Amino acid sequence: MAELTRESWGKRSYFIFAALGSAVGLGNLWRFPYLCYANGGGAFLVAYVIGLFVIGIPWLLLEFGMGKYFASSAPGVFGGIGKKWEWLGWWPVWVAFLINTYYTVVMAWTLRYAVAAATVEWGMGKAGAEGAGDFFFGTVLQLSGGPDEIGAPVPALLIGLAIIWVVVFLVVHKGAKVIGPVSQVVMIVAWVFLAILVVRGITLPGAAQGLNNYLETDWSKLASPDVWFGAFSQIAFSLSVGMAGMYAYGSFIKKQGDVNNSAFITGFGDAATSFFAGFAVFSTVGFIMQALSIPVGEVATRSVGLAFITWPVAVSMMPGANAFFGVVFFTCLFLVGLSSAYFLAYGGTIAPLVDKFGWSRTKTAAGVCIVGFLIGILFTTNGGLYWGPDILDRAVSFYGLLITGALACLVVGWVFPASRLREYVNSTSEFHIGPWFDVMVKVVVPAGLLFVAVYGGFMQDIPESYGGYPRWASNVIWATLLVTLILSFVLGAMKTRGRRD
Ligand code: PFF
Repeated sequence: MAELTRESWGKRSYFIFAALGSAVGLGNLWRFPYLCYANGGGAFLVAYVIGLFVIGIPWLLLEFGMGKYFASSAPGVFGGIGKKWEWLGWWPVWVAFLINTYYTVVMAWTLRYAVAAATVEWGMGKAGAEGAGDFFFGTVLQLSGGPDEIGAPVPALLIGLAIIWVVVFLVVHKGAKVIGPVSQVVMIVAWVFLAILVVRGITLPGAAQGLNNYLETDWSKLASPDVWFGAFSQIAFSLSVGMAGMYAYGSFIKKQGDVNNSAFITGFGDAATSFFAGFAVFSTVGFIMQALSIPVGEVATRSVGLAFITWPVAVSMMPGANAFFGVVFFTCLFLVGLSSAYFLAYGGTIAPLVDKFGWSRTKTAAGVCIVGFLIGILFTTNGGLYWGPDILDRAVSFYGLLITGALACLVVGWVFPASRLREYVNSTSEFHIGPWFDVMVKVVVPAGLLFVAVYGGFMQDIPESYGGYPRWASNVIWATLLVTLILSFVLGAMKTRGRRD
């Protein structure tokens, strides 16, 4: 029954654009280029490509293929393997939902900045450059001194957040048939904007030095675990696997549709976007180095600092069309974020609930968007930055993603098992994958993820409190994992009512 009524992507390209839309996000602009610069340039690229073949693409194939096999989102997939595994399909649903509560707040910042950029509100020239940090922390975030000072919601961010959830609702409430075409438009516009930023960046004075910093190769770095940690963690985060949503997106592939080629296209398309984005980022960093006569180490080259301080500094210092390039940059960030946010909402949260309980899609979408907005209010407060994009992020987008991902690969690899999945995806795909896939899913992906969780996580966060926060605040990480795990068992034990389309 379920198979007959399953919604599907209208066209193959809609699926590819939707999958790419979920993968390409803030991380492509603000994490990949920095990691490449910090980890030996070309050496990092080698580690990244290896990681793509041994971790990213097999994992993506697994999620698409299992979703398609069971014509279901994550809980139905694991419930299909065995009722006792259904909880493992719910855990990443919680991860996805919680990520979305603060990811949408970061998008509210980008919206706020897209508006601010129209008048270069933080100021022009040297004065603007000097004031960019205060503008971000003081005017936009109105940031408090620490996680114990929550304060109150910042009105402009609250309004931005509400707008974003309304947009997410409009995109998702009709399911895949709207998500597909919207993703196509969103991604094409985002790429055009990115191309504008690359051209602007590489024609700025000083760009060459910045690009040297980005790509200067130090092969000896390949011997450092940091490089592999950086590459593997970025691949996991960037491909948006381990967030439940890719199972759902895979489940909307038509019966005879390809899986293997689509996974490769998504993996390489995402990597290419990251690599390309690095040219926009580091050429601009080079420009700032020259304009302000500072070394690369003094320019924020990653994360929030890159997007909301470094970029505004560059906009202030540009020789012309300053507002234009500011608006293009923040709109580009907004668009890549949006296609990840509605992926988390629909594939990661709404589709699993609809599949399980048979609720109406529109009502479920409304409920998820309203609750997501209400929780997000916490992250629009003065202390919101600490709680959302930092502490909760560590819990879900790092530990949650890695632990649920490793367990999922083990269960699919050994219980389902991997060979059966491989034969299934090969039966309708444009090319076949060989038995190497089984080894990746059963051993290499879980081992790689475990390495990332232990080396970059537990080894730091157990001896020293995460982020230098007081213990009580960083313990929220462990509490979040525990509570979401328990809730996943509860949901997994409930009776399935099936979907009504
Ligand atoms: N892949 C997105 C990025 O690189 O920014 C982030 C992300 C979005 C991760 C959605 C996970 C996710 F489900």
